[in-house]
Amino acid sequence: MKFFVDTADIAAIAELNDLGMVDGVTTNPSLILKSGRDILEVTREIAELVDGPVSAEVVALEADAMIAEGRKLAAIAPNIAVKLPLTWDGLKACKVLSGDGFMVNVTLCFSANQALLAAKAGASFISPFIGRLDDINLDGMELIEDIRIIYDNYGFETEILAASIRTVNHVLDCARIGADVMTAPPEVIKKLASHPLTDAGLATFLKDWEKTGQKIL
Ligand code: G3P
Repeated sequence: MKFFVDTADIAAIAELNDLGMVDGVTTNPSLILKSGRDILEVTREIAELVDGPVSAEVVALEADAMIAEGRKLAAIAPNIAVKLPLTWDGLKACKVLSGDGFMVNVTLCFSANQALLAAKAGASFISPFIGRLDDINLDGMELIEDIRIIYDNYGFETEILAASIRTVNHVLDCARIGADVMTAPPEVIKKLASHPLTDAGLATFLKDWEKTGQKIL
C-alpha cells in the first residue's frame, strides 16, 4: 500500500520523505489554510520535494471553471494530481482533464456508486473519506471494501486512495482490504511505529545493559 501524507506542512513532509515513507502528498483547502502559505507556492515546493503525485484541489463549483483552475494547478509540476469534488460538475471536469492526460483525484467520496462514476469518468484516484463516515456512525471501512470489490469486478484502474484516516487501525484495515493508497496526517504515520511492548522491552534491555558496565562506543 502506498503512503501519501495528508498535509501542506513542508517540514513534516520532508522528515517522512527522508525515511522513504512518502509515495505522494494530498492537500485540500483546509490544509492550505492550516499551512498559512500561498497555494501555488507551497504546492510547487511540495512537488519539487516529493517524486510521487501531489494532489492540489480546485475550489470552483462549475465544470468550466474547475477545468481552468485544474489546468493552472497542473501547470505547477508534472506530478500534480488535480483534486476535484465528487459532484456532477466535478465528474465533467474529471472527464476533460483526465482526457487531456492529467492525473485527477476525485475527492469527497462517500458512496460506492460515487466511486463507480469517478472511475467511469477516468479518475486516477478516488478518495473515500473514512473518518467522516465514522463520525456520523456509518462504517467508513465498509465503503473501502465495497469500492475494492466493484473496481476489481470490472478491472477499473482508478486507485483507491483511502482518506480521512484518523487512527492506526484505519491504516491496518485499509492494508488488509487492499486499498491502493492511504493518505494520513504525519502524526498518524509516525504513530504506526509505536507499541507499548516495544517501549517496555527497550526499557528492560537498557536497565540490564547498564548492569553489565559495558560500552559499545
Ligand atoms: O484529504 C482529505 C481528508 O483526508 C480529510 O481528513 O480528518 O479532515 O476528515 P479529515
